[in-house]
Amino acid sequence: MAELQSKRIVLIIGGGIAAYKCLEVIRRLRERGCAVRCILTRAAQQFVTPLSVGALSNDAVLTDLFDLDAEREIGHIRLSRDADLIVVAPATADLMAKMAGGHADDLATAVLMATDKPVLIAPAMNPRMWAHPATQRNATTLRADGIQFIGPNAGEMAERGESGVGRMAEPAEIVARIAHHFGDEALHTTPGTLAGRHVLITAGPTHEPIDPVRYIANRSSGKQGFALAAAAAAMGANVTLVSGPVGLPDPAGVRVLRVETATEMLAAATAALPADIAIFAAAVADWRVSNAADEKIKKGAKAALPKLELVENPDILSAISHLPPGQRPALVIGFAAETEHVVEHARKKRKSKGCDWIVANDVSPATGVMGGNRNTVHIVTAGGVEDWPEMDKQKVADGLIARAAAHLEATTGSA
Ligand SMILES: Cc1cc2nc3c(=O)[nH]c(=O)nc-3n(C[C@H](O)[C@H](O)[C@H](O)COP(=O)(O)O)c2cc1C
Repeated sequence: MAELQSKRIVLIIGGGIAAYKCLEVIRRLRERGCAVRCILTRAAQQFVTPLSVGALSNDAVLTDLFDLDAEREIGHIRLSRDADLIVVAPATADLMAKMAGGHADDLATAVLMATDKPVLIAPAMNPRMWAHPATQRNATTLRADGIQFIGPNAGEMAERGESGVGRMAEPAEIVARIAHHFGDEALHTTPGTLAGRHVLITAGPTHEPIDPVRYIANRSSGKQGFALAAAAAAMGANVTLVSGPVGLPDPAGVRVLRVETATEMLAAATAALPADIAIFAAAVADWRVSNAADEKIKKGAKAALPKLELVENPDILSAISHLPPGQRPALVIGFAAETEHVVEHARKKRKSKGCDWIVANDVSPATGVMGGNRNTVHIVTAGGVEDWPEMDKQKVADGLIARAAAHLEATTGSA
């Protein structure tokens, strides 16, 4: 927690109905020792008052670009540079448009234009506003400009009867993301956060027999899935790890079920339910040999080459994602290993499998991800894509489990 302790956050609050949730974000950041300086747009002041924001942040609240006293005291240029991170929450459709267009006609946008610091935005708006081509165009521009996103989430809107993608990420999720940005492992692995929760994880390759001694396999090492299991156990979860054949030792405090084939993996994963979170990190073979031989196939001098007939394996991610409510884990996360168009394929996969998030990674040989210790991932949710920088597989695991725990807490209450 020490790393987050010294951080200075500038929080820009936009004029959206979700602005009230920022009070909780400020409280949580202050609890962790962050200095939080808040800027309210004119519209934001219709939703939360400078008085309540100032009382929680314990600092002057800034609202006006042309405030002589405030400008003399800190100045908008210094304000934008003194921060370690600028967070915009809620990021309204209007603020996103201004950011994408390079506007600087009020304090919030002037600070955003003048900064050389990382910027994280939490969009929040009506689903039709989010889906509007203009907003989507602006989101693409902002991503290309290096702006980091959290959310929006799918769910109920403040307006009655409205639901869809556009809900602001919950305060716990925003704070976990900020901690992750600063690499604050202490916050990620707070013991007890997942106490009473069951986390199911699959890892490794599967081996599909050709005969008693030969099999079809892939290059998955299981390292990412084992790291996830260790991270979840460190946060107090009951963890079941269903692993294909790998050469890794059991992570401490984790129930490990070793299987060989995709069919066995599906059976073990299904039998391990119910679970609160299910993460499918295994590289399951797409096909198995339907005419696998009971005895070793002989290489006879004159014998014809054996013909392997392949059939499709069960789709574990899709099967668990499509379980009826009550049996389906509250949060289902799949992994997508791709060698090209990584994010595009991951978006399609998220929809076709029916899972909540896809963690996409590029496994083309040049990346060294398969079998290596580092990974660069993109978290694809209903609301969009978060691009994480390259990091150690354990750090990816810690960050993902922290995000999942925060999401679970926000959507289902604490354990
Ligand atoms: C009751 C109410 C709720 C609103 N909620 C949102 C919202 O959640 N998201 C959004 O993008 N705009 C919302 N708006 C519209 C914004 O307030 C408006 O676009 C404003 O100009 C945004 O200013 P700002 O981006 O400078 O804060 C809402 C307006 C009203 C009246």
